[in-house]
Amino acid sequence: MISGFSKLNTKEKIDIIIKQADLSSKALDTLLSHHHNKLQETYNQFSENTISNFFLPFNIAPNFLINGKEYFVPMAIEESSVVAAASKAASFWYKHGGFEAKIIDTVKVGQLFFSTKESLEFINSHIEEITSRLISATDELTISMKKRGGGIKDIVLQKIEKTPDIYCFYVSFETKDSMGANFINSCLETMGEALVQYFDGCNKNAEIIMAILSNYTPQCIVECNVSCNINELKYWSGNLTPQEFANKFKQAVDIAKYNISRAVTHNKGIMNGIDAVVVATGNDYRAIEANIHAYAAKDGTYSSLSEVNTENDIFSYNLKVPLTIGTVGGLTKSHPMAALSMEILGNPNAIELMGVIASTGLANNFSAVASLITTGIQKGHMKMHLSNILLTLNASDMEKFKTIDYFSNKTVSYSAVQAFLNEHRKNKNLK
Ligand code: MEV
Repeated sequence: MISGFSKLNTKEKIDIIIKQADLSSKALDTLLSHHHNKLQETYNQFSENTISNFFLPFNIAPNFLINGKEYFVPMAIEESSVVAAASKAASFWYKHGGFEAKIIDTVKVGQLFFSTKESLEFINSHIEEITSRLISATDELTISMKKRGGGIKDIVLQKIEKTPDIYCFYVSFETKDSMGANFINSCLETMGEALVQYFDGCNKNAEIIMAILSNYTPQCIVECNVSCNINELKYWSGNLTPQEFANKFKQAVDIAKYNISRAVTHNKGIMNGIDAVVVATGNDYRAIEANIHAYAAKDGTYSSLSEVNTENDIFSYNLKVPLTIGTVGGLTKSHPMAALSMEILGNPNAIELMGVIASTGLANNFSAVASLITTGIQKGHMKMHLSNILLTLNASDMEKFKTIDYFSNKTVSYSAVQAFLNEHRKNKNLK
């Protein structure tokens, strides 16, 4: 047990870890070589107990055409093939009208949970008075949000099922270009105080249990779509005819609709694109993940988030997801790479960014399903994977050249590549 760890400086923290975790001297080099020589102070401010940085590749998927506007999409992700897959789909759909993204709503929700022995009838008979007190208690907090067109939209009381005496005020917020977590939580806590005071004033008792935004925002939705004539799918269809490809694509999406094991993997392919842009723009990927997966199960069974339609010779592919993101506040401006991502995207507002994120998710999902029903994904994956393996095995340029050539018609695996390199190194054929 270590006490006061957070009070130590970075060097002291590192020393303790090296000693207690019995790390090799290489660990110190690794930690220090990942320090930023100019911006470390900035990075240290984002968290506690920071001892170094953890890099992710920062990548660009070009040729995204979304609502008629071209984008270079920044993607922070480490998985081979994801950026290549997004770029491939983006280029194809660029030539077929691009992505159409539309926002259904941007409402966000906060929850004020409280308990009281008073009856629901008592609360309901005072509901107008209570809600107006709760709203007016937040007047100071909401001034600037109101000026930006946001603020509190609605308050609804619900009894929490199966929990005696527990209620919740569901408060709806519009937070414009900010993700709004701090704003919502501050409003809710202030409302909690006002609620207790109101009950006190009636000589009644209410206790606040907790006040927190909900990461589930089933109304804060973006929908995006691509479509083309089925004949135009020739580019993807390989040995299949475009119509066979479209039919098989529909079968694959139907499977993801009704089979949970497949739905999770199918949606993971969507999250490959979504998370990569969310991370690159400094947004909260944990909130996004929790929200989207809950939404995927909104009808009682976890299901595919994307849908395909192949009627009347038109292939139309659609994705609908809840996305709560911000373009002001949070890391978006303060993290230098997130700020750069925003600049690369042309400094979009939250609504525009929602469209970019959803379109990237749809692009990745489309590419993944297209590969799965034709060549399989391993061919493309393994080509990228081979470069990673060669990097891990410290292959020289000549070794890389020979290995890539050797594996051009063979199955790639770490052990096969290692064996190939070992053999050739032993024979000194490559160096
Ligand atoms: C891999 O990261 C994502 C895929 O598994 C998605 C899918 O199966 O649809 C290829």
